[in-house]
Amino acid sequence: MITIVVPTYREAGNVANLVSAVDVVMKKAQLEYEMLVVDDNSPDDIVEIVAGLANSFPVRIIQPDGRPRDLSLSVIDGVREAEFETIVVMDADSSHPAEIIPEMLRTLDKDRSRFTVGSRYTSGGGFDRDWSLWRFVNSSIATMLARPLTECTDPMSGFFAFDRNRVDLDKMRPIGYKIGLELMVRGEFSGVNEVAIQFKDRTIGMSKMNFAQQWKYLRHLRRLYLYRFKGWAELVHYGAVGASGFIVDVVFYYLLQFLGLEHQIARAISFWPAVSWNWALNRVATFSERQRRPKAKQWFEFVITCLIGFSVNWGIYFALTSNVPFFDSYRFLALVVGIGGASLFNFTAATLFVYSEKRVN
Ligand code: GDD
Ligand code: MN
Repeated sequence: MITIVVPTYREAGNVANLVSAVDVVMKKAQLEYEMLVVDDNSPDDIVEIVAGLANSFPVRIIQPDGRPRDLSLSVIDGVREAEFETIVVMDADSSHPAEIIPEMLRTLDKDRSRFTVGSRYTSGGGFDRDWSLWRFVNSSIATMLARPLTECTDPMSGFFAFDRNRVDLDKMRPIGYKIGLELMVRGEFSGVNEVAIQFKDRTIGMSKMNFAQQWKYLRHLRRLYLYRFKGWAELVHYGAVGASGFIVDVVFYYLLQFLGLEHQIARAISFWPAVSWNWALNRVATFSERQRRPKAKQWFEFVITCLIGFSVNWGIYFALTSNVPFFDSYRFLALVVGIGGASLFNFTAATLFVYSEKRVN
């Protein structure tokens, strides 16, 4: 018993072909199933079409509302609403060959703890060759960026099968298109199995992939990296934020000297714009997956830990420039060494204390 979840938006012209193609395959393989079309309130007559098809096929349609239109959220709604535990997800435009479903299900049944993907890149798989260079480059880069997150060679695939019990739907927080990747990363799967597919370009209707979706994909990736690599991803973010704060710091350091202040004083003042900058960016970027806390209180705590860090920072700078002639000639290097020492201290304090509240996900 299988539920086939099909997300749709403007697919009225495709749904009948899909339903009959799937039915032929499932009958031949003697597999019982229901097909659940999750339509995002398309401005077409898909509801009537599915109602007609329901006379002859085990198909039904739901149209969730109260949320923005989104492919991933539609798939989640479909899984939630599914009657059976075995779920297959596929596109409505016949890009995904229905003939492969039985093999995917056999693969899944061999080890139900694993996620099964219809893959273009495993041996025997492929896609229509008339892709534009642009689409190809895009898709390759997108795939490459996801590779550290999963063993799957086709993490972009929208054709997959899995056991619903392995997924806590409330923990899924996808953005945009890549619900398969989300499930692979956040589901409790012991691994991924791939079944080769030949991906066909759609002939009816239009792809909904666009620049906005690609931007969402990058945000989604960032979120998944933070989830999978936790501390390490945060450290990299923190480092990048620190580097940008460093620029703020240096700009003020020179600006204030240009305005006539002593270099030690300039050093002490340039800390303030830099620390506020870092606090804000760490809040919205580095630790964005953690629960938000009151701004003023958190800024204050951030400043306190940074001030302790800063005494390390300024202490190193002062000691080096007043005791080591080399560093007095190259004050900039003393500044760098000071910031390095303080950053280590600050990251530890930030991660354990200032931004320590429980993660949302
Ligand atoms: N409910 C709902 N809401 N469905 C949507 C939405 C939406 O906002 N946007 C798209 N869909 C449905 C489409 O109707 C189709 O059935 C399926 O999701 C895939 O959308 P397409 O617009 O056809 O995507 P694509 O062909 O560019 O991308 C496909 O191939 C990619 C690999 O090249 C998808 O399978 C991707 O997931 C996959 O990465
Ligand atoms: Mn498509």
